[in-house]
Order: sequence, then structure tokens, then C-alpha cells
Amino acid sequence: MQSIIELRISDELRGRFRRARNVFVLTGAGVSAESGVPTFRGGGKTAVWKGMPFDVISSARMVERDLAAVWEWFDYRRSLLEPLEPNPAHMQIAAWQDQFDEFTLVTQNIDGLHQKAGSRGVIELHGNIWRARCVTCHARYDIASRQSRPDACFECGDALRPDVVLFGEMLPAGAFEVAAANAQRCDVCFVVGTSAVVYPAASLPEIARAAGAYVCEVNPERTSLSEVCNEVLTGKAGEILPLLTKNVFPGQSC
Ligand code: APR
Repeated sequence: MQSIIELRISDELRGRFRRARNVFVLTGAGVSAESGVPTFRGGGKTAVWKGMPFDVISSARMVERDLAAVWEWFDYRRSLLEPLEPNPAHMQIAAWQDQFDEFTLVTQNIDGLHQKAGSRGVIELHGNIWRARCVTCHARYDIASRQSRPDACFECGDALRPDVVLFGEMLPAGAFEVAAANAQRCDVCFVVGTSAVVYPAASLPEIARAAGAYVCEVNPERTSLSEVCNEVLTGKAGEILPLLTKNVFPGQSC
């Protein structure tokens, strides 16, 4: 466990974060790793389901070919997520939202743990595993637990699919545009727990940097974004984010 002394934060980051009025945070699977959510990549391996790489089972083509198999994968993922709780990284990010004049949280995660930690207005770039959507009229349904997943759309009677952005699909209308506009206006941008290989999400820190924001990455491993960032804090988000807050805003608890 790192202590305040070990977490080397530049004076630049301390000053910028302390003076910041508009903060932007982009998260990926790594922010949920300490809650027990398996990441897709990192540690040199990728997730596989019944011999299929996750980007095959989680694809638009698979919805056309075998929707039942897609639901089996997402029912399994939901069964893994159901007992899991937010970790200190989620809690710290939720606490930040009331600390600045403007705060934007954009996530690639579909696990709903940011919302469970109390984050409001989360921009979900890749959808949410706790929702289903009609393949025809796009009506959306909350899925509290596995048992309650409706078999078909109550509006038009057609099939439902996970309300998640699958490989080969566009992001939800407007989500990226709002995220990009907010990234352009922020003073400080944190990139937490993403391998930054999936676009357009990975372009958001680049947009923030180009607009003059101070960009800081939090990740135990270097990523393709590390070069673009002004500063990299190497380690686990659940340890670093609370320490960073204590260091920059002494006397403030999560
Ligand atoms: N704290 C911070 N970062 C962590 C932690 C941790 N405790 N544990 C792992 N990481 C980092 C890994 O080093 C890796 O860089 O989190 C990153 C996870 O990367 P991915 O698994 O590729 O997840 P992500 O970047 O969110 O993937 C993007 O790809 O699979 C699709 O749609 C899916 O939203 C996902 C997108």
C-alpha cells in the first residue's frame, strides 16, 4: 500500500488540481478491477468466452447470428457483477463531482459501479449491462437482476438485446459529442484505468491536452496515451485517487 510520502505528485499537478474549476475524468475497466471486475486487456491477456475472444461474442455480427449466445455471455457478466461493490476509486471520483464548478465523468465501463458509488450524470460511452434495448423500436428496459430480463419488447413485441455498444457498432447518439465538448473546456483531465486502445474514447484526453488542459494518467501499466499525458501516476486507482486527494486537498476525506 502506497503512502502519501511515496506518491510523487508534481507541483504542477498539485497547483493545477487545487486551482481547477472544471475537471474531466475518463475511466476504463481498470477503475473497477479492485472491485473484482475482470479487465479485458492488461497483464498481457484478453478475455475469452467458450473459446471465443470477447470481441467476437461482444459483436454486432453475433447479435445477428446468435442473439441467445450474446445474452448468455452478458447474463454471465451480470452474474459476476451483481455482488460487487464500488471501490475507493469510484468513491473518490463520486466525491469530486461536488468539489468543482464543472465536473464531467465519462466511462467506457458498462458495470454501473460509478452510479452505485453515487456519481450522477455519468456519460456512458459503451452503454450499460443493466439495461436491455429493443432491436427494432429501441425501447429500453432496466434489468434489475438476471431473472427479470423481459423476453421481448412490450412496445412492439420484437427481440431485446443488451443495451451495450458492441464491437462494430456506433456509440450512443450524442454521448461522444458532449464528452468531447466538455474535454475541450476542462482545466484538468484524469485518465483512469484504460488501455486507451479503443477509439473514439481514447481520443478524449488528446482533445483535452490540445485545448490546454493538464492531463494525468492513473494506471499500473504504461499505455499508448502515457506519452500524450503531462503526468503519469503509476499504480492502482483505488490507492492513488484517495492519496492524490489527501495530498492536494489536505484535511479532506473521500
Ligand atoms: N487501477 C488502474 N488501472 C488498472 C488497474 C487498477 N487497479 N488494474 C488494471 N488497470 C489498467 C490496465 O493496466 C489496463 O491498462 O486498466 C486497463 C484496462 O484495460 P482494458 O481491459 O483494455 O479496458 P478498457 O481500456 O476499459 O477497454 C476499452 O474495450 O473491450 C472494450 O468495450 C470494452 O469498454 C471497453 C473498451
